[in-house]
Amino acid sequence: MTIADIPADELTEEQAKEELARLAREIDKHDRLYHTEDKPIVSDAEYDLLRRRNLAVEQCFPNLIREDSPSRRVGAPVSEKFEKVRHKVPMLSLDNAFSDDDVVDFVARIRRFLKLEPHSPIAMTAEPKIDGLSLSLRYENGRLVSAATRGDGQVGENVTANARAVADIPNVLSGDCPDIIEVRGEVYMTHRDFLALNQRQEAEGKQTYVNPRNTAAGSLRQLDPAITAARPLKFYAYAWGEVSEMPSETQMGMVEVLKSCGFRTNDLMCLCETARELLEHHHKIEEQRATLSYDIDGVVYKVNDLALQQRLGFVSRSPRWAIAHKFPAEKASTILRGIDIQVGRTGALTPVARLEPVTVGGVVVTNATLHNAEEIERLGIKIGDTVTVQRAGDVIPQILGYVEERRPPDAVGFEFPKVCPCELKTPVVRDSTVGGGEGVVRRCSGEFACPYQRIEHLRHFVSRRAFDIEGLGEKQIEFFFRDPDLPVKSPADIFTLAERDEKNLKKLKDKEGWGAVSAGNLFEAIEVRRTIPLDRMIYGLGIRHVGDRTAMTLARAYGTWQDFHEAALAIANGDLSAREEMDALEDIGDAVIDAVANYFAEEHNCKLVSDLAAQVNVQETERPTSDSPFAGKTIVFTGALERMSRDEAKGMAERLGAKVAGSVSKKTDLVVAGPGAGSKLKKAAELGVEVIDEDAWFAQVDGSG
Ligand code: IVH
Repeated sequence: MTIADIPADELTEEQAKEELARLAREIDKHDRLYHTEDKPIVSDAEYDLLRRRNLAVEQCFPNLIREDSPSRRVGAPVSEKFEKVRHKVPMLSLDNAFSDDDVVDFVARIRRFLKLEPHSPIAMTAEPKIDGLSLSLRYENGRLVSAATRGDGQVGENVTANARAVADIPNVLSGDCPDIIEVRGEVYMTHRDFLALNQRQEAEGKQTYVNPRNTAAGSLRQLDPAITAARPLKFYAYAWGEVSEMPSETQMGMVEVLKSCGFRTNDLMCLCETARELLEHHHKIEEQRATLSYDIDGVVYKVNDLALQQRLGFVSRSPRWAIAHKFPAEKASTILRGIDIQVGRTGALTPVARLEPVTVGGVVVTNATLHNAEEIERLGIKIGDTVTVQRAGDVIPQILGYVEERRPPDAVGFEFPKVCPCELKTPVVRDSTVGGGEGVVRRCSGEFACPYQRIEHLRHFVSRRAFDIEGLGEKQIEFFFRDPDLPVKSPADIFTLAERDEKNLKKLKDKEGWGAVSAGNLFEAIEVRRTIPLDRMIYGLGIRHVGDRTAMTLARAYGTWQDFHEAALAIANGDLSAREEMDALEDIGDAVIDAVANYFAEEHNCKLVSDLAAQVNVQETERPTSDSPFAGKTIVFTGALERMSRDEAKGMAERLGAKVAGSVSKKTDLVVAGPGAGSKLKKAAELGVEVIDEDAWFAQVDGSG
């Protein structure tokens, strides 16, 4: 008799643990065979039996439920199957406010930006922030033509067939609507529907879901629209993307138009004029929160006048004209079972608390971040303590403190390791601070030898904003890193995989977890990425302080891989004029330049980069080849701009082929100065750089168009 034959309630704890591990493995394998490779090897009944067995063991041993348990997974692992859609107008996220003061600051910031008197009224909408997932629906001549999830904001997944199956989403718009309109809003599930669905799932021995939001997401991303149709999803419209002709000039008016087109809109939306009124509305909604039939996690405030929204523009990925005022985080207490150390891409060692699973705000929490050794000391926690955990939105849960009366006598303090947990056991060193003191970050000194760092580096390389290779995620990277037949130790190795596989006797398709289809798909996906935009290439290198936006700035400024690479090497060699040139770019300062210099001063990195460059074709970053008088010029905007926001100004200049720099130098060709311009204007005068005002800028731009 094997463990699998023992009834769930007769298993010992040891056996139950083993059985849950086996079931997780088995179910995962069948899920993959079914969903990814379309070739299941067991019948539905056999598969259900595995799931039911898993559930039964978990019910008897709830303390042993695994983090990767099939019962915790929501929906099918389907994302690889949906086509990608590029949003015409990006789907942005919202900045957060957590306190009343944050809201007051937000309103004051807007007034300042718009040059309004400190207490002048400014019309703003306030509406619930629905805890679901956002969807963009494109209608042409009143008909739904496509639906896309938000994805990374730029590219989402095409879920048109599924959106058509949602009763709340009209296939044909009613009334008088624009020829082209992208309606955006939130897909969600009500509490009642969520509970009923879970009861049904349980009765059928199928997986149950964690919370309504994940369920809505899983339901919308099913490969079979019939499954989506059977799930009671709802949709609130609250925003828009591309619109051929705007039917209203205000946020409120637009939402009314969406309503008249046949969408449901939220009744709790109202118009306010001051921060105090916004806060009152927040309070009112918070009081009603428990009685609402759906989850909300805050209140969203938006400037009502669309012309003002346009002037306010964006900072990073969020609009300056809106903010999400979150409700306070939810808390719970649980036991701290241990503290693990994670090693990041740059070798930073981060302690992570392993917790007895606990539900906080509807989500099971098993880990919490502890940041660094000082944080552990500050909290004063010991292993075995009862700790309070807080979770706000999607952020990683945090430990707030411990309950003194419940500290067991055998609670043990945590000693930060002196060596890296990797096989090499390399000594841990502390970063130094600017003043030369000891910083809080401890790093493994192994750098390129530390397997953890190398794996993290490769993971970054294939991540969504870098090379984004379909089918090559974190798990697969680790697999290849450790695989003796097809090792991937550096990014270039990814691009020689197919060729090496071809020559190998031990082929990928014959390996555990792979098949002919998945191996073929992977090689194809890698081939697709052999041609890569310059900004992704730069970001993928994993240079410290070079995030995707900085990478884009660099790509726009240098245009080609060769130019960027040469400049980076020159900077690493101490070439001051190359450094100055990079320094003149907006948003780029010493931290980035030093990081680029350090990266390219390292022989190992230089080899990694040249091996990689030999494998891929790096696309030039689109630099308008316009014959505009601004092409190739370096422009600095300074002072208070009144007709455009900084982001708009930058966008305009870049579209005309110019580079926008943050400081005036010998290389500056033009300074556009608004009122109040100071030191930059003076510097321009000293260097004899041409200076014009905003009106002249617009006149020249119009003239060049
Ligand atoms: S407005 C440009 N309004 O929150 C801003 N978003 O963090 C567009 N959300 O991705 C979003 N309720 O999924 C807006 N009433 C509401 C919302 C809302 C929920 C979500 C949405 C968005 C996220 C932004």
